[in-house]
Amino acid sequence: MSHSTLTIGLFGFGCVGQGLYHVLQNSKGFKAGIKKIAVKDPHKKRSLSANVFTFNKHELLEDPEINLIVELIDDADEAFQIVKAALQNKKHVVTANKKMLANHLEELLHLKEANGVSLLYEASCCGSIPIIRTLEEYYDNEQIHHVSGIFNGTTNYILTKTLTEKLSYAEALKQAQEKGFAESDPTNDVEGFDPKFKAVIIALHAFGIIAKPNSILNLGITTLSDYDSHYAKEKNYKIKLVPTIQRFKNGAVSLFVLPKFINADHALYAVDNEFNGVLVDGDFSGEQFLKGRGAGGNPTGAAVLSDISALSFGYHYEFKKRQQLEKNTLTQAVSLKVYIRYATLLDLEQLKISTIYEQYTSEYYNYVIAQVDLRELIQSRSYILQHQLFIALVGDTIALSEAFINVEQMVQLN
Ligand SMILES: NC(=O)c1ccc[n+]([C@@H]2O[C@H](COP(=O)([O-])OP(=O)(O)OC[C@H]3O[C@@H](n4cnc5c(N)ncnc54)[C@H](OP(=O)(O)O)[C@@H]3O)[C@@H](O)[C@H]2O)c1
Repeated sequence: MSHSTLTIGLFGFGCVGQGLYHVLQNSKGFKAGIKKIAVKDPHKKRSLSANVFTFNKHELLEDPEINLIVELIDDADEAFQIVKAALQNKKHVVTANKKMLANHLEELLHLKEANGVSLLYEASCCGSIPIIRTLEEYYDNEQIHHVSGIFNGTTNYILTKTLTEKLSYAEALKQAQEKGFAESDPTNDVEGFDPKFKAVIIALHAFGIIAKPNSILNLGITTLSDYDSHYAKEKNYKIKLVPTIQRFKNGAVSLFVLPKFINADHALYAVDNEFNGVLVDGDFSGEQFLKGRGAGGNPTGAAVLSDISALSFGYHYEFKKRQQLEKNTLTQAVSLKVYIRYATLLDLEQLKISTIYEQYTSEYYNYVIAQVDLRELIQSRSYILQHQLFIALVGDTIALSEAFINVEQMVQLN
């Protein structure tokens, strides 16, 4: 295959933009030229000469010589305007912006098709882990059963520190911010929005579905208390924030983000600190596991470089799972086995739990292990956050028709 020359217009010269610059300078055998870099703050000191930079996006978007826009800014709304204009101007695009992608997948796919250009975004999901291209190319013909994992390094760092070093949630968050893993406003990470955006993107490539982020449940780790960490330690569990995308026999796919108790024989147990891990379970290949650096300038820059390199050989995503005859559809009708730390019985009534396997009450805290309908959790999200309930997955997800059978069986066994 021939190798085409790419002239890059780069948006953003922060953590990832500088990482890409460094990776490009130091990669052997492949050279792509950055013609201009668009940034925002005219007063910031830069490590490159001033004439490389511009504060006017049109200098890049309207330049006929630039045939690739690499979008690495931290403003999802502005990123969407940039990417949209670039595609309309028939320029290829590489981006790392998961929030922008997850919120506009349908429109972006249409724009890229209509303009005959490529849109690649490996760096948007789990940094250096090549999950998008693995799903697109390796699993193109194999039916996938589920994809799950640790898609967010900030929360994994906080959870590791609270469990292994007994730091409180607030202390661990402060440490993550000091080390540069967490942003000053960590809401997107700690409330589980960031892993949800990644899961929405992954669901497109693994199952061919486009889910609207607003309709997907994300419960993060903001309500984690020392009692929950203590419970996990007592049972030899670790707590991880795990997006789960699972396909059932009838082609229905469920998708949600919840904390999960993980035991020592689970692949995610050993994924600590800022690392990410992705589990893919295929019908024929079985479970496979990828672990790597989910963030940081160089690892994320490496994923961007890989997209640029693929583009130079004419690569584009084919979204093969969207073309399969048997279409998958999104379902929320699933039952989850969860740990719920609650304050009063009203909390349990609100969540309409269906089967209680275990219940503990004390003067300090209460919990149940119970079955709950995902739709009840979605409806009660604000209630859960307001009343500081901590909810974590402890078992498999079951589609509701299967759930009834299993729950009945469990009741008989009890
Ligand atoms: N950091 C990571 O490890 C990581 C990992 C995976 C994906 N990502 C994604 O990569 C993207 C960039 O993240 P980052 O961590 O590199 O952000 P960052 O360090 O905060 O840098 C953001 C850059 O964007 C520029 N910028 C902001 N608004 C702009 C605008 N309207 N026009 C032009 N430039 C603008 C800023 O300009 P100034 O320099 O003038 O302020 C800055 O250079 C985000 O979408 C993020 O979600 C990041």
